[in-house]
Amino acid sequence: MTDPQRVEALTRPERAAALETVAAEVRSCTRCRLHATRTKAVPGEGDPETEVVFVGEGPGFNEDRAGRPFVGRAGELLERHLASIGWRRDDVFITNVVKCRPPDNRDPEPDEIAACYPYLRRQLEILDPALLVTLGRHSMGRFLQDARISRDHGTLRAVDPATGARDALVFPMFHPAAALRSPDVARQSEADIRAVPAALLEARGRRASRADAAPATRDLVPVMAAHAAATPAPDSSAEHAPEEPHGRAPERASEAVAVGAVSAASDLGASPPTATGDPARTSGHASTSDPASPSDPADQMTLF
Ligand code: URA
Ligand code: SF4
Repeated sequence: MTDPQRVEALTRPERAAALETVAAEVRSCTRCRLHATRTKAVPGEGDPETEVVFVGEGPGFNEDRAGRPFVGRAGELLERHLASIGWRRDDVFITNVVKCRPPDNRDPEPDEIAACYPYLRRQLEILDPALLVTLGRHSMGRFLQDARISRDHGTLRAVDPATGARDALVFPMFHPAAALRSPDVARQSEADIRAVPAALLEARGRRASRADAAPATRDLVPVMAAHAAATPAPDSSAEHAPEEPHGRAPERASEAVAVGAVSAASDLGASPPTATGDPARTSGHASTSDPASPSDPADQMTLF
């Protein structure tokens, strides 16, 4: 495993070079059966200093041809989602749990995901993201073992550092391909993506509050004030959330934390975090809050 201190000290070119080393290994990898049917492996791409990593399932037809992630219709939707919060794809890092296309777009098998995971782990060690956004259930399942996408999308939990992301929160979303198939999933995905900037602020605040916090020397993904308070109040327990392996899923959705706008929001001049009374909130899904409603600690939820 990469030494965390060393990763922290990486310069931008060093991070880029380390990511390219992983990518080169992926391109010639034969660790699982998927190598036999791929055209091009798809290591992933993006800003080496980003705070946000999007993790999809695996390359599809277009990605296999291009050697780049999310370049087909699902990718167009992902880009539209990013644009809706003022981000472009090169503000973030985009990759997949398997780097080679499963034939006929079948789901990746557990042994393929396991064989490929060391690459994602190394990417996460190098990138050290604050926020991981998983796209689809196979990606979510790698970080949250007991989670269910229909229940847990749009909620935030701490990531087990054994995944490679040493201090990150994970925010599961539906796969964009599912949103292309279902108007209902599309609506829920639009609500979820709007909560991502506030999720990033929550993740940033959590990292900054740690005693061993490194000075923030990295380029930061821009969070526009308009998006910073898109969600209800934080749960202060987020800062103390245990980092158990594969953070337990909540018993009920109502125990899941919805994204909090935390103190970092006020740094950006956004209105203070507001809460709840929002039915979507009690379903555990981050959503637009009513800025007029008072913060009610009773409505704040715990991370685990
Ligand atoms: N779907 C994925 O999960 N990943 C891609 O890169 C493209 C489509
Ligand atoms: Fe290697 Fe991953 Fe491709 Fe399998 S899917 S061949 S483990 S890069």
